[in-house]
Order: sequence, then C-alpha cells, then structure tokens
Amino acid sequence: MPTRRPRRRAAPGRPPVARTRDYRRRNRRIWERTSDAYDLRHRAALERSAGRAWGLWRIPESRLGLLGPVRGRRVLELGCGAARWSRGLAALGARPVGIDLARAQLAKARRLVGAGVPRVALARGSAESLPFRAGVFDLVLSDWGALTFADPDRAIPEVARVLVPGGRLVFATSSPFRFVAFDRARDREGRTLRRPYFGRGTVVFGGLTEFTRTYGEWVALFRRHGLAVEGLVETTPPAGPPSSYLAREDEAWARRWPAECLWSLRREPQARSSARTAPRSARTSSR
Ligand SMILES: C[S@@+](CC[C@H](N)C(=O)[O-])C[C@H]1O[C@@H](n2cnc3c(N)ncnc32)[C@H](O)[C@@H]1O
Repeated sequence: MPTRRPRRRAAPGRPPVARTRDYRRRNRRIWERTSDAYDLRHRAALERSAGRAWGLWRIPESRLGLLGPVRGRRVLELGCGAARWSRGLAALGARPVGIDLARAQLAKARRLVGAGVPRVALARGSAESLPFRAGVFDLVLSDWGALTFADPDRAIPEVARVLVPGGRLVFATSSPFRFVAFDRARDREGRTLRRPYFGRGTVVFGGLTEFTRTYGEWVALFRRHGLAVEGLVETTPPAGPPSSYLAREDEAWARRWPAECLWSLRREPQARSSARTAPRSARTSSR
C-alpha cells in the first residue's frame, strides 16, 4: 500500500530512483521492521468485512464480487501479511494458503489463524519463486501484496504456473498514474505529469521497491502467460470511512485520477503449462 516519503531524492529532472539491485533483501528487511507499525495502523480497517475487503478503501468483496464462489477452492494469498484474507476465505469454506517473505508478518498470521479458524496453511517464500507444484490452485489473490513488491516479469509466470487451467488471479495494486503524478517535493501525487509514463519499472517509496507497469505492459505480460483479462476496476473513494493509507489530500486526488487497480484474470484452459520440469512440493506450515 502507498507509503509516504520516498527515501532517496532523485536528481532534479530525473525520475525517482529505480534501485532494483538487492530489492528483495531490502523489501524483506523493511517488512520485518515495519510489521508491527503497519498492523497497528491498519488493523481496524483490515479486520472490517471479516477481512474480505479490497485495497485502499477496504471495499467489501461482497460489493465487488471479484472472486466468485470460494467454497472448496484452493486459494493462494500472495504476500499475505497477517493472512486476514485467508482467514476470511477459510471461514467461507475455501482452502487457503498464505505466503509471505517476512517472518514478522507470518508470525502475526500464525497468531491469527491459530485463533479458531481451520484450514489456513502458511508458507514463507517469494512470489518470484513459488514453492508449489504446477496447477495446484484454483484462485490466486494479492491485495497490495507480493504483486506490488515482486518483479511482475518473475511473479506473473509463477502465478500462471501454479494456477489450474481456468483458475483465476485477482489482485489489487497501484495505478501507474500515481507514479507519473508523484510530486517529490510535496511527497504526494500532484496535478501535473511529472515523470514519464513509459520506460519505468520500479519506484522506491519509503525504501520499499514497488514495481510499476503501464496498462499496456500489464496486459501484454498477462497474455504472454496465458492469462485473459476479465476485468479491471479503477477504484475511487467510496462513501464511508476514509482510507487508513491516505491523507485527505490524497483522497481528493484519487477522486479525479486512478490511484488503484483491481485486476481480474483467468488462466486460459488451453494455455500451455509453464510448469517447471522438476515439480517442487509445497513447503507449508498448517494451523
Ligand atoms: C502491504 S502488505 C499487504 C499484506 C496484506 N494484504 C495486508 O493488507 O495486510 C505487503 C506484504 O507483501 C509481502 N511481500 C512483499 N514482497 C513479497 C514477495 N516477493 N513475496 C512474498 N511476499 C511479499 C510483505 O512482506 C508484506 O507482508
């Protein structure tokens, strides 16, 4: 989710620093370090709608209807944090697995899924190299999780690989507009285009590397891996409580320009499997 204050200043006229070297280690360290503060700040919002709500404004899944039926479905939550989505889906009869690269985040997930909800498995690992066999999930979801912070060129093929033919991917992440309009001096999105839409790739916010793609690049990447676009919701602030992630000024911006994208995709039934030759067994810990 958006975090304020990009840590390094770009040289005047240059786009924000794209420091991809070591981003995995750096991102993980930051999530380990900020896990408690993140949870404290957003817990109340994340707990609304039994954890089954999307994005910056926690819009309930019951209103958006992106996931379809989940009872009995094998679900993978990518970058699960405290696994509130997985808990919420398990309560509806799904069989979720939450994966995250940060131990501190998984420790919170373990505490929560230990508290009475059956059938949530947890695994530590990266979306860029999933520790699961090919074709084992009916549904993959990420709510500003790993698909925001992992390299899409690595993570999307992995998602396509672990989905069954006909399986679905639903994820929330940033709109590329945020990056184009980001005003470094004011530390928030502005009303002018400040940097190129094309040729980006990564942006560093608060030390965290986020990956950016243009709309066309996302679609081309999905198609290359046999994922057909079923829908794209560009959210705007709904009536109700303000986002715990945004300042009031950012909310006003998001009424006029897209801050967030909710993508829905389906793995084409006839898509060639991108399975690895040596399937790996799932290393999960179950609660
Ligand atoms: C903004 S949090 C969102 C978590 C959850 N949806 C929530 O709102 O609490 C992003 C999560 O993605 C995890 N993450 C980041 N990069 C990842 C990667 N490459 N693979 C797996 N998890 C990752 C982080 O550790 C963090 O827990």
